[in-house]
Amino acid sequence: MTRGIDLSINFCGVTFPNPFCLSSSPVGNTYDMCARAFDMGWGGVVYKTVGLDYEVKITHPSPRLNPLHRGSQRVVGLQNVEQISDRPTKDNFVDLARLKKNYPHKALVASIMGLTHATDWEKLAKMAEDAGADMIECNFSCPQMTVEGTGHKAGQDTAVVEKLTSITKSACSIPVMAKMTPNVADMLPLALAAQAGGADAISAINTVKALTGVDLDTATPLPNVGGKSSSSGYSGTAVKPIGLRFISDMARDERLKIPLSGMGGIYTWIDCVEYLLLGASTLQVTTAILQHGFRIVEDMDEGLSDYLVDHGYESVQQMVGKAVRNVVEPNQLSHATQAISVIDHDKCIGCGQCFLTCRDGAAQAISIQDDRMPIVDEDECFGCLMCKHICPVQDCITYKTVPHHQATA
Ligand SMILES: Cc1cc2nc3c(=O)[nH]c(=O)nc-3n(C[C@H](O)[C@H](O)[C@H](O)COP(=O)(O)O)c2cc1C
Repeated sequence: MTRGIDLSINFCGVTFPNPFCLSSSPVGNTYDMCARAFDMGWGGVVYKTVGLDYEVKITHPSPRLNPLHRGSQRVVGLQNVEQISDRPTKDNFVDLARLKKNYPHKALVASIMGLTHATDWEKLAKMAEDAGADMIECNFSCPQMTVEGTGHKAGQDTAVVEKLTSITKSACSIPVMAKMTPNVADMLPLALAAQAGGADAISAINTVKALTGVDLDTATPLPNVGGKSSSSGYSGTAVKPIGLRFISDMARDERLKIPLSGMGGIYTWIDCVEYLLLGASTLQVTTAILQHGFRIVEDMDEGLSDYLVDHGYESVQQMVGKAVRNVVEPNQLSHATQAISVIDHDKCIGCGQCFLTCRDGAAQAISIQDDRMPIVDEDECFGCLMCKHICPVQDCITYKTVPHHQATA
């Protein structure tokens, strides 16, 4: 609690002390890791996905990660080829039980995935409830699962999603959340299928199937695992717009009545506020923790508290979904006005970037004077604002709003 604000939220009848949770992944793979996260302020943990012990043991390729760097910015995205937990089932449930015993007021979610039979889901759901988990998350979305009917393969089939949700739900009395894959054109039918199967909540997104690069000398895609690679789960900053899109798609549809847990590229309190405004009630994080550690929750806690106070909200719940009504179809956007770029010559350093982007990618509305200062031809500018977006000087290019050139022509 910061600035006297209570950040707790009721999610499916479970009280989360704050909406910030570890998402199911290596950041929440053992008792010690989750305990440290709780101690540092995380309100909930979605534990690494647990399956049953099968004859073919789960092992992970190495290296299992490959980053996408951009210029000096490290890890704008992260590709992984990891599957579900490689630890014995029993060890994971012992850890879950210990976590609930020692942290009774934190929210504990067991992520499960049956590998071969529907009955696996039943067994795992019972084990999760017996261990004291507050909720279950069904992993219908890991893109690395290759067995038919598992992970994203299950998650792309509405009938399978409904059936496995219903089996899980019938096997336990705790709330069940279905975690969706973003590797589909439309998540809604799948979320509605989970709801029909009895799901109490939907979480999204799991990772986006992708390839982050190729080693140019060996012609091997990355990560290079013994000379080969696979397209696999991509996460981090790069996927935040995709996560926001799917969360808002679901929040906008009135047929879906269950709450949402949002994730994908959450690093800062601003990312948290965006997900909450677009309809998520709890938030989950992995890649930012891989990059910066559990301490990032302090910024989230402080930033969200300040935001609530500054915007007159008395609880997190009050702000959930406030931006949803402002998301419309592209053809519903107003064409009544348009922007015109305004360049502040007192701030301009004469680099010419705005001229280049306008000449080669927009309206050819910017010309350069002899003193290198750019001038905007207001009749030609169509207000894409790419010049503003690439200008290296803060607030050097702003814009004014005028009647739309085409509407008034
Ligand atoms: C290395 C790694 C392993 C993951 N393992 C799991 C998993 O076992 N179960 C699961 O539901 N999601 C898994 N995820 C997906 C994350 O929980 C999360 O959905 C995704 O990474 C997007 O969030 P982020 O951008 O904050 O990382 C994994 C992600 C990474 C990077």
